[in-house]
Amino acid sequence: MQIQDKPPFDTPFEWIGGEARVYALVERFYDLMDLEPGYAALRAVHGSDLSNARQRLFWFLCGWLGGPQHYTERFGHPMLRARHLPFPIGILERDQWLACMDQAMGETGVPDDLRLRLRQSFFQTGDWMRNKGV
Ligand code: HEM
Repeated sequence: MQIQDKPPFDTPFEWIGGEARVYALVERFYDLMDLEPGYAALRAVHGSDLSNARQRLFWFLCGWLGGPQHYTERFGHPMLRARHLPFPIGILERDQWLACMDQAMGETGVPDDLRLRLRQSFFQTGDWMRNKGV
C-alpha cells in the first residue's frame, strides 16, 4: 500500500467519519483486547474494568484526530507519557496495543490510506509510552 496525495478532508477526524466512527473504533479496540488471547499481555496491564479507559480514549482520539477537544476540555493537557507511567509498558505491550488497534481499524472499516497513516502515528505515540526495557 502506498500513501497517496493529500485526501480531500481537512482533518483525519472528518476522514474517519466523525464521532460515531471514532466511538465504534474504540469500542472494537477494547472488545478485542478483552477477547483475543493474542492481546493478553496488554489486557493484563489494564484493570478489571475497561469502561474508564473506553470513555477516555474516545474523548482523546476525537481531539487527536483534529475533532472536538473533549479530553483536554475535561482533563487539560493529556500528558500521555506521564499518565502511562503507573503501567509497565515494554515492546510486547506496545506491539500488542498497535496490533489490537490495527485490527480494530480493519474491522470497523477505516479507509486503507488513513489506516496506514494512523498506524504510523500510533507507532510514534505508542513507542514514546514505553517505560521498561523489554
Ligand atoms: C503502548 C502501549 C499502551 C499501553 C500498554 C496502554 C495502557 C493503558 C492503560 C493501562 C491505561 C489506563 C486505563 C484505565 O484508566 O483503566 C491507559 C489509558 C489511556 N491510554 Fe493507553 N496504553 C498504550 C498506548 C496508548 C496510545 C498509543 C494512546 C493514544 C494514541 C493511548 C491513550 C490513552 C488514553 C487517552 C488513556 C486515558 C488516560 C487518562 O486520562 O487517565 N494509550 N492506557
